Amino acid sequence: MSSERRFYFDHAATSWPKSEKVMHAMIDFMRDCGVAAGRGGYRSAVEADQLVNLTRKKIAALIDAPTPSCVSFHANGTAAINVGIHGIIREGDHVVVSAAEHNSVLRPLDDLVSKGKLRLTVVPVSQQGNVDSEAFIGAIHPDTRLAVLTHASNVTGALQPVSEVGRHLRETSTLLLCDAAQTFGAIPVSVKDLGVDLLAAPGHKCSGGPLGTAFLYVAPNLHEDFQPWVLGGTGSQSESLKMPKEMPGKLEPGNLNVPAIAGWCAALSDLMDLESRRAQNQVVATMLRDGLRSIEGLEVYSGEGPLPVVSVAIDGLPPSDFAAILDSEFGIEVRSGLHCAALIHSCIGTQGVGTLRVSASAMTTESDIRYVVDAVRQVAEEMTGS
Ligand SMILES: Cc1ncc(COP(=O)(O)O)c(C=O)c1O
Repeated sequence: MSSERRFYFDHAATSWPKSEKVMHAMIDFMRDCGVAAGRGGYRSAVEADQLVNLTRKKIAALIDAPTPSCVSFHANGTAAINVGIHGIIREGDHVVVSAAEHNSVLRPLDDLVSKGKLRLTVVPVSQQGNVDSEAFIGAIHPDTRLAVLTHASNVTGALQPVSEVGRHLRETSTLLLCDAAQTFGAIPVSVKDLGVDLLAAPGHKCSGGPLGTAFLYVAPNLHEDFQPWVLGGTGSQSESLKMPKEMPGKLEPGNLNVPAIAGWCAALSDLMDLESRRAQNQVVATMLRDGLRSIEGLEVYSGEGPLPVVSVAIDGLPPSDFAAILDSEFGIEVRSGLHCAALIHSCIGTQGVGTLRVSASAMTTESDIRYVVDAVRQVAEEMTGS
């Protein structure tokens, strides 16, 4: 890695840099404790367990979960979503999703469709990636088992009408799974306000935790019948060949990534005022969006909300070349392509090639935003000859 300054604008993939607090917490844990949680009865093992449960409590408080047992830890957002889907879905079920979903939602569902186990309805989104709540609700039938709606698109940052859908579904038997990958830690995310039955989010994006962290929320009324997707040792009821029935243990076989959870726990301490975080994000999002929209010849795809995640494209310049120019000539790190969202591009008109995604964080400075907007303007001017 060269010593030149990096202008990191790929926060929608993972946040960087992580705070000193997070790094210290991870090192401290590995140096001073370093053992598996929920296994041994010696002091350091109990300490590791307490750390995991403290983090669980913090997440439960942040998302308004009725008890910490609703929160299980997973390796990443993808694993949490898969555990959520497989825990609920039964053969022959009908599922509704939006076209803005990430492949961590679409691929497990498509796999079940191709095995003849599921019927899937995909609801299209607008050119800025917004789901129309009426269209989404209209696709849900009395026999729909599950609706999956991302809280915000990872391509355009568009916030989706999860609470509207949740309110509607309260009177039905359809369950609602929300993918809060792009919002947890950026804006308030309350399972009560959203009216969701399941909610998954990684810890390594907006909440500032390290890679290797994620949680799944499962509403208490689903605990008993919820099917574990990965089976194995839990450090409890080891005489039995069956998974324990208790939550969250039955969703957490195998050793947890306690060093990463230690880092995440430290990051969560700084997250308690999410209304201020939302306001900070809104300022950054508006500045980034307005700056990019002022560039002639640049197509901008972005929701209007508080998330600083904006996709752009220039006619005749493949997004991968665009990203390579920004990296090599300006030290700007952005992502190009489809962003693991297979279906949104045919709705926003970027199928095949995808977009260049510029994603910032609440901490991104005004001068860094000006720098990236100016760099994109220079590339656009060269392309359009203006
Ligand atoms: C909307 C959305 N859902 C799910 C995921 C998957 O998260 P992870 O990369 O932690 O598996 C991502 C990651 O980019 C995402 O943006």
